[in-house]
Amino acid sequence: MIYLDSAATSYHKPAAVRHAVLRALTTMTSPGRGGYPSAMEAADTLYACRCALGDLFGVEDPANVVFTSSATHGLNIALKTLVGPGDRVVISGFEHNAVTRPLRAIGAETVVAASPLFDPDAAVEAYRRALPGAKAAVCCHVSNVFGYVLPVERIAALCREEGVPLVIDAAQSAGVLPLDMRELGAAFTAMPGHKGLLGPQGTGVLLCASDAVLPLLEGGTGSLGESEEMPEFLPDRLEAGTHNVPGIAGLLAGVSWLQRQEPGAVRTHETALRHRLANALRGRRDLRLFEAEEDACQTGVLSVVTDGLDGEEAARQLGEAGIAVRAGLHCAPLAHRSAGTFDTGTLRLSVSPFTTEREIDAAAARLIEILERSARK
Ligand code: ALA
Repeated sequence: MIYLDSAATSYHKPAAVRHAVLRALTTMTSPGRGGYPSAMEAADTLYACRCALGDLFGVEDPANVVFTSSATHGLNIALKTLVGPGDRVVISGFEHNAVTRPLRAIGAETVVAASPLFDPDAAVEAYRRALPGAKAAVCCHVSNVFGYVLPVERIAALCREEGVPLVIDAAQSAGVLPLDMRELGAAFTAMPGHKGLLGPQGTGVLLCASDAVLPLLEGGTGSLGESEEMPEFLPDRLEAGTHNVPGIAGLLAGVSWLQRQEPGAVRTHETALRHRLANALRGRRDLRLFEAEEDACQTGVLSVVTDGLDGEEAARQLGEAGIAVRAGLHCAPLAHRSAGTFDTGTLRLSVSPFTTEREIDAAAARLIEILERSARK
């Protein structure tokens, strides 16, 4: 399979990830529930993973690195902590349903800081106008549909000036772009463990600026067993129930692999492949490409609209040819509305650190073949 759906999840992973999962399955039990070696090994692995993530994302206290089951889980905790019914929340025009649906369920007044695709100055201006009086703000670091890198540092600075807590959705940037909680001063940053961080599915991380958080789940934590209430301290306050130890062990291996790469190497590789793909597809009348003028504004995600052939059909035919891509609205209808692609959706191709030039060339050639075959019909 040629896998070009890395924005959905990582498929090729460092071999160490698989080995770590298997090792955890065979040697580790419940962390924080016993002092015997297999429980201690699990506890040590969790702690090592918190420390590695803390180093990567500028979180001083590893206790503030909380394990979740997904970015969605972390976003729900963050939003349900900060926002109540009727509260005004400012979001970008490129947020995922993982942000908009919880806000809708809470009954918040959601204000979209609307701005065009690949226009970071306009995004900053839109937040500047919308932030006064907001209870919280949310910004995705990178759009899952277009790979658009939002100016999260500048938006974070505005939020600090206005005293508005910021939630960052780093689902598409974690492991690819630098992000530092200390510098940003964000209240929360949520991310999956299974995309850019190369861990297994079922893992996620919530970076918390403080322990003023509302648990979504109550239950056993292995601490303060005599209390009827959840502990006040992190990470226990947010980690009820037995941890996903094999998943977290795999996540630690993925993060460790990333930390051994040259700084910026993943980004450079993915940007080069996105250019290669766009170069192969550009200039066709039956394809509309969504590309930023500046590399700083886009990751290794390329969305296209296939004029004359439904995107889902193009994706199906690519799938039949062993090429994995995702078409449609990508659980981000707001992003499609902002880019003017809500009616058609897009065909999204997204690369990983393990994607090769040959794979890009083969996928581009096959997509062109599919379009030409459809035009002849
Ligand atoms: N949100 C993920 C995607 O963009 C699943 O495909």
